Amino acid sequence: MDPIAAKIDKYLEEQSSLDLLRFITCGSVDDGKSTLIGRMLYEAQLIFEDQVAALTNESKRHGTQGGDIDFALLVDGLAAEREQGITIDVAYRFFATDHRKFIVADTPGHEQYTRNMATGASTAEVAVILVDAKAGVLTQTRRHSFICSLLGIRHVALAVNKMDLVDFDQQIYDGIVSDYEAFAEQLSFERITAIPMSALEGDNVVGRSAKTPWYSGPTLMGYLETVDAHRSLVDESFRMPVQWVNRPDRTFRGFSGTVVSGKVAAGEEVRVLPSGEVATVEEIILHKETLPEAITDQAVTITLDKEVDCSRGDVIVAAKDPSEVADQFEVNLVWMDQEPGHQGRSYLLKTSTTRIGAKLTDIKYKYNVNTFEHLSSKAFELNDIGVATLSVDRGIPFEPYGGNRSLGSCVLVDRYTNATVAAGMINFALRRSQNVHQQKLTVNKAAREALNGHRARVLWFTGLSGAGKSTIADALEQNLHKRGIRTYVLDGDNVRHGLNQDLGFSDGDRIENIRRVSEVAKLMVDAGLMVLTSFISPFRAERDMARRMLGAGDFVEIFVDTPLEVAESRDVKGLYAKARRGELPNFTGVDSAYEAPENPEVHLRSGEDSIETCVRQIVDYLDLD
Ligand code: ADX
Repeated sequence: MDPIAAKIDKYLEEQSSLDLLRFITCGSVDDGKSTLIGRMLYEAQLIFEDQVAALTNESKRHGTQGGDIDFALLVDGLAAEREQGITIDVAYRFFATDHRKFIVADTPGHEQYTRNMATGASTAEVAVILVDAKAGVLTQTRRHSFICSLLGIRHVALAVNKMDLVDFDQQIYDGIVSDYEAFAEQLSFERITAIPMSALEGDNVVGRSAKTPWYSGPTLMGYLETVDAHRSLVDESFRMPVQWVNRPDRTFRGFSGTVVSGKVAAGEEVRVLPSGEVATVEEIILHKETLPEAITDQAVTITLDKEVDCSRGDVIVAAKDPSEVADQFEVNLVWMDQEPGHQGRSYLLKTSTTRIGAKLTDIKYKYNVNTFEHLSSKAFELNDIGVATLSVDRGIPFEPYGGNRSLGSCVLVDRYTNATVAAGMINFALRRSQNVHQQKLTVNKAAREALNGHRARVLWFTGLSGAGKSTIADALEQNLHKRGIRTYVLDGDNVRHGLNQDLGFSDGDRIENIRRVSEVAKLMVDAGLMVLTSFISPFRAERDMARRMLGAGDFVEIFVDTPLEVAESRDVKGLYAKARRGELPNFTGVDSAYEAPENPEVHLRSGEDSIETCVRQIVDYLDLD
C-alpha cells in the first residue's frame, strides 16, 4: 500500500466512530483555494505545532500577509513536497472536527489540470466551488462544475471568496450567485449552497462573520459538517467485481472483491458476467470468519456451489437482475491529454475490472462549457467535454454511471505512451450492439485459400509521398499475378477518387482513410485475395490498428524507406514544391508528421535499391519460390 493510502487508512481507523465526507475543492489558480484549505486544516487544529511555527516564520519572511500567517504557503509547501515525491496527481488531505471526518481532494487549478480535477471528483460526494468575488463566474468555474456534475457530485457549496476585496457587498454576492444558479440549472446538482466568505480573513469559514449580517446561511465548515450527501447503494442489486481468484490449494476456490452495490447472502443465486453462468453462494468469508451476508462496501471472499468460468475482472451479480453486457456504449468523455482524441482511433479502455482494446467510434458532439451548445467535431482537444460512442473488443458487464460509479466509469489509455487520455462515464449500451449478431458462414477464408492454392494476406506499403510505394506495389502485383496468385491493389490516389472521395488530409481524415482501407483490406483478405495497399499511412496507431484487425501473420508491413530529400527531389507530381510554397497545407514530411515503422516485416531502401531488388526482397520474405 502506498504511504498516503496507509496513512489515510490508519487515520480512518482511529476516527471510525465519526462519519466521513469526501469532498473536492475546485477553483482557478488565484481563487484562494490553497488559503482556504490551509485555513480549514488550521482551524480544525490538525497542523502540528512545529508546522505552525515554521509557517509563521515563512509568512513573515515572504511578507505577503503582513505579520499574519499565509495559509497558502502551507498548502503550496505541501504541494512542492508532493511534486518531489512519486507522482500523485491529487493530494488527499484528511482532517476531523467533533462532528465529522473529512477527506478533501486538493487539485491544482490550472486549466491543464482537468485530469486531476476529474480524478478527485470521481470519489467525492460534495464539491466546494470557489469563485473570486472580484472576478465572478469564469469559464474555468463552469468547466469544473460541469465535470463535477458529470462525475456524479450532487451537492455543491458555492464559496464566493475574497468578499473582503469587495467590501462584503451583498449585491455583488447576489449577482454571482444568480449567475451561477442560472448556469447550473442545466447540470444535475440537487442542491447548491452559496456562502459569502473570505478564506484569508476567516469570514464564514469556521466562525460566522460579523461583516455579512445580511447572510443567514451556514459557514462553510458548518455546511460540510451537516450536509447529507451520502448515497447508499445497499438497496440496489448485488454487484461484486472480482479482484482476484483466491485458490490456495485444490480444495478451495474463492472469489475476492468489494461489493459495489446491494448485498448477497449464502444460499442466494448469483450470475457470473460476462459468461452468464449461474451458481449458488456457499460461503461468504471476511478475514477468517464466515458471514451470513455481505453488503455494499464490504471486501469479502465468496465461494460458489459449483465450478464456473470466473476470473479476475468478471463481475458477480444477482442472478435475477444481472448487469447488461455490451461492446458498444455511449459515454460522456472529459479529454485530458495534449494529444487530441481522433474519431476512429483505437485506445485501451480501463474499467475498475478490466483492460480491453477500444475504439473511439464516433464523436457525437462537444460542449461549449459556457452555453452547453453542442459543437460538432472530429477530435477532442485537451479539456474538451463531450459525448461519444466507444466500441470495445468484447462484451463487458457495466452499469450506467448515473446508477453506479464503479461499474459505469472508465478511462481511455494511449496504447503507446500509456497515458490516461480521457475519463469516461457510461450512459448506455448502443442498441445496435445488442441486435446485430455475427453470422456464421460455411465457406470461410481457409476454404477460399485452399481453392486459390495460396495464402491470403495484406501487404501494407507505407512511406512518404513519392517514396515509390505505388510503383513497387504495381511491379510486385505483376510478379504475383504471373505466379497465379489472386491479387488486388488498393492505392491511395485511386481510393481517394471513390470510396474516400469525402476525405482530405487533416489528421482526422487520414485516420478515417486508413480505417476504411483496413476494413476493406480485411474483407478482401477474407475473400481469399493477396491485397496490396499503398497509402502513406503516416500514423503508427492506425497501422497497428490494421495489424490487430487482420491478425499477426496476415499483416505484412512494408516500409518503403526513402529519405525526405530524395522523395522531394523526385517530386513526380510537383506536390512537394506546392507544399513548400505554402499552397498545399498538411503535406506529409513538410508540415504533417510521418511516423516511421519501428519493426516492419520488410524494410525497403527505395532511395538506393532498384525496383526489381525491392520486389525480390518482398518475394523472398513471402517465401514464394
Ligand atoms: S494518407 O496519409 O491518408 O495515407 P494517401 O496515401 O491516401 O494519404 O494519399 C496520399 C497521396 O495524396 C499522395 O501520394 C499525394 O499524391 C496526394 N496528396 C495530396 N495532398 C496531400 C497531402 N497534404 N499530404 C500527402 N499527400 C497528399
